[in-house]
Amino acid sequence: MIWNLGSINIDNFYEVPHLPSAGETLAAQSYGFGLGGKGANMSVAAARAGARVSHIGAIGHNGQWTRERLMEYGVDTPHIAKIDVPTGHANIVIDAQGENNIVLFQGANVELTEAIIGAALTEASPGDFLLMQNETNGQAYAASTAQALGLRVAYAAAPFDADAITDLFGKIDLLVLNEVEASQLEEATGKSAGALGIADVVITLGAQGCKWISSTTETCFDAYPAEALDTTGAGDTFTGFLVAALDRGLDMEAAIDLALKAGSLMVTRRGTADVIPDLKEIQDHFGA
Ligand code: RIB
Ligand code: NA
Repeated sequence: MIWNLGSINIDNFYEVPHLPSAGETLAAQSYGFGLGGKGANMSVAAARAGARVSHIGAIGHNGQWTRERLMEYGVDTPHIAKIDVPTGHANIVIDAQGENNIVLFQGANVELTEAIIGAALTEASPGDFLLMQNETNGQAYAASTAQALGLRVAYAAAPFDADAITDLFGKIDLLVLNEVEASQLEEATGKSAGALGIADVVITLGAQGCKWISSTTETCFDAYPAEALDTTGAGDTFTGFLVAALDRGLDMEAAIDLALKAGSLMVTRRGTADVIPDLKEIQDHFGA
């Protein structure tokens, strides 16, 4: 089972001819909204990959529908608190090449308490996963608590925060990050991601696939080619599938293969949590 301490956002999408520059007013060609947040995206991805997932997080004003949608997608929601501040939201601008930029308001996501997190983790069992990203508060407390309970701790260092990741050294079993985050980490610590004593590190490389660094090996994996329409949420999909596959007992190679397939299908879809593929869609697309 996966306990995912993660953000829940209302994602607003705007399709634009190019990313706006400073001082520019730009008319969008389309608008849409849906469920998002790196945390919610990973919960939905893990559920679609067949894992049992309980989301630990917080919503606020106008956010009740996001909880209902997570439930619809098969995610357990009793540990999502309701807090009297705005629900987190993200304004996502996507250009004709599929490049994006995101303005994020964290809102309820950073109002978590140790009581909320602790209450959830008392229900966890040894061997379960704690999954975390960087769009909530409470990661260091959650990781220490989970470690003491015998959980495996997986952390996606997104968006990158040098202090947050430094607080987690010694408490993470699996670190997932993209190449930008990997170089930010190296800049902040003077060490490469593979030299931090973390058992497994997976660095995603976009269209180049990914690299898995364990204590004994370094292995490269090619990506499955795809025509990128919208890369938003593809990294989250990769991580959710990866952790779900490991939770279901697959070895790292097989888990990475599944995660790469899910990520590559995801870049062909506009949107975030609402359009994450499930196992059947992946099987239909890639065969076997
Ligand atoms: O990684 C994509 C996510 O980042 C979006 O769903 C948005 O909510 C932002 O948090
Ligand atoms: Na997408």
